[in-house]
Amino acid sequence: MITEIKHPVIKTLVNHLRAVDTDALRFRHIVHELARLMAYEALSDEVLKKKEIEIWNSKRAFGFIDEENLLFVSILRAGLPMIESVTALFPQASSGFLAMKRDEKTHQSVIYYDRIPECKGKTVILLDPMVATGGSLCDAISVIKHKEPAKIISLNLIGSPEGLDVVEHKHPDIHLYIAQIDEKLDSNMFIYPGLGDAGDRAYNTEG
Ligand code: PRP
Repeated sequence: MITEIKHPVIKTLVNHLRAVDTDALRFRHIVHELARLMAYEALSDEVLKKKEIEIWNSKRAFGFIDEENLLFVSILRAGLPMIESVTALFPQASSGFLAMKRDEKTHQSVIYYDRIPECKGKTVILLDPMVATGGSLCDAISVIKHKEPAKIISLNLIGSPEGLDVVEHKHPDIHLYIAQIDEKLDSNMFIYPGLGDAGDRAYNTEG
């Protein structure tokens, strides 16, 4: 299932990302904010688990998200700023990293680093700003499915309708939240109008 978040705050932040005068520091800052807001939305149905804590006058049980059951997986490198803010929200959650690079000629993604811990029974939340052809995300989801998580959620900031269709057809069982579905995938396999390459924008590189 794909959910585009329609909130005006989300749209405003995404559109600031598009502007070329948004420098790398502000770009990463906006990505932090968006990831946090999207995690808030994506976890709105989480069942709270009772946990006893000591408060000012007694010991009592209160409801908390079972953050030890959450595993955030960032797709490097553009997903890095996203994981910083969501793990600040859930310090007991664990983190994994999957590095992928899209070959600019074949447009196929290649995995060059896999540091994903045990996923069995966990809620895995994938973090990658962009879904262009959808190839990178489909591959990342396949890698994680082999590790038998209870649930996979994907948080993405901007995507093409074509790429999102690919992900939905290949992995109809995951829930993908996206801040902005743009007009199309252009002939160079870039999201149009898009925001450029999120990794380059975040880290001041080209290509
Ligand atoms: C970007 C982006 C996604 C991928 C999307 O990463 O962060 O991972 O491309 O493209 P796709 O949907 O066509 O697979 P990129 O390969 O540019 O690497 P980077 O994060 O290091 O910039």
